[in-house]
Amino acid sequence: MFFRKKEADAAPSVAPGAGTAGTVPVSMTVNGRAVSADIDPRTLLVQFIRENQRLTGTHVGCDTSQCGACVVHLDGRAAKSCTVLAATCDGAKITTIEGLAKDGKLHPMQEAFREHHGLQCGYCTPGMIMAAVDIVNRKGGNIDEATIRHELEGNICRCTGYHNIVAAIRAGAAAMGGMRQAAE
Ligand code: FES
Ligand code: FES
Repeated sequence: MFFRKKEADAAPSVAPGAGTAGTVPVSMTVNGRAVSADIDPRTLLVQFIRENQRLTGTHVGCDTSQCGACVVHLDGRAAKSCTVLAATCDGAKITTIEGLAKDGKLHPMQEAFREHHGLQCGYCTPGMIMAAVDIVNRKGGNIDEATIRHELEGNICRCTGYHNIVAAIRAGAAAMGGMRQAAE
């Protein structure tokens, strides 16, 4: 896929090993696990997550901060990881889609997407779910359709027409009960 080549061209290495010339050290917590690496300063957070941490649930759809496929939680708030330099996340807490389920049980928002079939190809889904949890964390569990559609402005789905996604988020929000249930 074209963006994979572009990613590789833009920042070809996430260099292992401390003290490598031209790299910077970074440490952060990813899904509750402390991680550190010496990285090319140009490394994007999404590259660090996917290529260094091998957490490939976070997707790249546009690379230009438009589609939302790359949304993760950065210190408890939704962030488009394609537009964040990993080096600026030193000391941060990152939660990816892989960090939402607990003890083998899906997060209520994941369960709602499954129940309401809020996806087709699934490419946008990790970003949608991470954005949805953030919406509920900020707006509470009793959010109406208009609010959800407005808040999803930064997340693009090419398949579903959004109807089931909105229904899933309403159900997920109710299930979350307005409580912060993200993993951070
Ligand atoms: S890949 Fe980050 S917004 Fe599209
Ligand atoms: S389900 Fe295919 S892009 Fe959203």
